[in-house]
Amino acid sequence: MSDQTKYLLEERQMPTAWYNINADMPAPLMPPLHPETKQPVTPEYLASFTPTALLAQDVSQEQHIEIPEPVRDIYKLWRPTPFFRARRLERALRTPAHIYYKYEGVSPVGSHKPNTAVAQAFYAKQEGIKTLTTETGAGQWGTALAMACNMFGLGCEVYMVRISYQQKPYRRHVITTYGAEVFASPSDRTEVGRRFLAEDPDHPGSLGLAVSEGIEAAQTSGGTKKYSLGSFLPHVLLHQTIIGEETLLQMEMAGEYPDIVIGCAGGGSNFAGFAFPFVREKLKHGKHTRIIAVEPAACPTLTKGSFTWDWADAGCVAPICQMYTLGHSFIPATIHAGGLRYHGMAPHVSALVHSGHIEATALDQLATFEAGVAFAKAEGIVPAPESNHAIGVAMNEAVQCRESGEKKVIAFNLSGHGHFDMSAYADYQAGKLERYEYPAEAIERAMQTVPEVTFPGT
Ligand SMILES: Cc1ncc(COP(=O)(O)O)c(C=O)c1O
Repeated sequence: MSDQTKYLLEERQMPTAWYNINADMPAPLMPPLHPETKQPVTPEYLASFTPTALLAQDVSQEQHIEIPEPVRDIYKLWRPTPFFRARRLERALRTPAHIYYKYEGVSPVGSHKPNTAVAQAFYAKQEGIKTLTTETGAGQWGTALAMACNMFGLGCEVYMVRISYQQKPYRRHVITTYGAEVFASPSDRTEVGRRFLAEDPDHPGSLGLAVSEGIEAAQTSGGTKKYSLGSFLPHVLLHQTIIGEETLLQMEMAGEYPDIVIGCAGGGSNFAGFAFPFVREKLKHGKHTRIIAVEPAACPTLTKGSFTWDWADAGCVAPICQMYTLGHSFIPATIHAGGLRYHGMAPHVSALVHSGHIEATALDQLATFEAGVAFAKAEGIVPAPESNHAIGVAMNEAVQCRESGEKKVIAFNLSGHGHFDMSAYADYQAGKLERYEYPAEAIERAMQTVPEVTFPGT
């Protein structure tokens, strides 16, 4: 074990392949179903809005997929990312545990999102696509895709959840700085947007609804536009695995191996990217790591949702997937961790929680900000509100070690910084944040709208 604080890899040590968990899943995933026929999707249907290289990655069984050279070149602007031992936090908590964190906030837009944005823009460009359409919640994903599209000379159309569009203008301006267009969702540019606006002209929007708009904009473009999703899909999780692959090398430099691996989970991409290489070590090489996904108590998909079939979007134009869901019509409260407000969860993450290989837990937003502020005071970085969920559970585990005297090794993913989220911190400091109980009746109502699926004979 070393006495270092930060573990840095050389550029030449950056992994050259992503890890594809399809190769090691305990059971294969159910295929996605067509939103209307409710039968397995055809490649033609998926190709109407998704670049074909990404569809091939979704079903590939190769354990490793090479990262194309032009993608690696751009990754080098911020990768390999640093890995820290949180010694000052350990001292503040008076814990015998060793706490480590991987820091993805050093990317140009301040989060893990460009790991997949750059890859998706690269494949789109290769296929002659002109513009990528997408959704964004608090704007992290929109800024990442806007940056990536600009680097590959592609147009970019971002549908941003209306409440964030109004309350968080700064990321919106970052998106336009990169040359992309951004629209408040629901918008009047799509049929699904107009439908929701007719029901409620002040609709706050939701990630699921912005997804519907992005897909429709691509499907009605005559093939010039394709849709790009920032989380949830197998290829997005795949591109994020560079985080965990680097972390494995850095843990080796530190001379330790984690007993507990933690990530926050919205659609599941930073969690999977960080954790899946550790899941592989658990499934294939007998490691005994506990792997924990943390979600908001206000949007408790994994801890209070059902493992069933549901549409991946609110407007029912996206495929139906087997996953944990709160019901596609569930509109979560406007909590500050905007990136975690999504009714579903990535099918891979859902299946591994369902099979017991991954644990899930939920934290109230007050607890997450308490943790984020304690972390900022000890380590200096002001974390993204989403990342505070991972920090909160890492700190709880470290405090339990203080009580039990155990010297566990805890590693979490710090998925981004919170520099554009200071209004959330301001509200917290002004005592305006409240504990928020998930609305059981709203979820019950939303669960009545999940589809009846007869495939595969269920
Ligand atoms: C910093 C940060 N962390 C986490 C998330 C949650 O997304 P995912 O679960 O796909 O990692 C987001 C989403 O916007 C984010 O911006």
